[in-house]
Amino acid sequence: MMEKEWYEVKKRKLKELYWEQNKGNPYLPNGFLVYPHEIYDFFLGFINHPGRVIDLGCGNGLLLRHLVENSEHELVPYGVDFIEESIEQARRDILPEFADNFVVANVRDYVREMPDEYFDFIFFDPYNVHPKDLPETVNHLIRACRTGGRIIFYTYHDVLESLNFEWVGDFLTEEVRRKLKRFDHPEVSVGVLEKS
Ligand SMILES: C[S@@+](CC[C@H](N)C(=O)[O-])C[C@H]1O[C@@H](n2cnc3c(N)ncnc32)[C@H](O)[C@@H]1O
Repeated sequence: MMEKEWYEVKKRKLKELYWEQNKGNPYLPNGFLVYPHEIYDFFLGFINHPGRVIDLGCGNGLLLRHLVENSEHELVPYGVDFIEESIEQARRDILPEFADNFVVANVRDYVREMPDEYFDFIFFDPYNVHPKDLPETVNHLIRACRTGGRIIFYTYHDVLESLNFEWVGDFLTEEVRRKLKRFDHPEVSVGVLEKS
């Protein structure tokens, strides 16, 4: 499948799953049926200083709101998603005071426009971009992360199982994988790259 088609199919399938059969469940646009407290608290553990946090593939911004509301550090949230309805919900209902920080875009394109050394925490699921786009995307993440900041690579376990991967590092090149600190949770795999 060509890359353009790969993104179109992915977006269509997710939109159907998250929105067309959704009878008002606010967790579904993020892939959950109930509030994923424990998983989001696990993510919260990677926030170790104040600053800007971005979730690339943010759904309706629920994870970002969890981080903003529960972190001991002051955070400014940013979110990107290619599903218009999810971003609209983030702006209107989830984090209205940060509405201007939410963008409808393909992550693959958005990362190219991110300013240098701008974000303190970048949450990124490598499954969201086509494998061919991954090396360039990761280079942009490293460029856009502030020195002393963190790139939090994450993937949910259902995805890992479908690909026969052991952890999120299996998406990445050996060079990047070597730099990651690995964290295992029963439902999500995380690799943290500290930018020094
Ligand atoms: C499983 S949900 C995760 C939502 C949120 N990050 C969380 O952990 O609760 C994945 C989200 O990524 C979005 N997504 C997947 N691929 C994308 C891409 N290439 N560009 C933008 N958004 C993408 C989907 O639309 C969906 O909202």
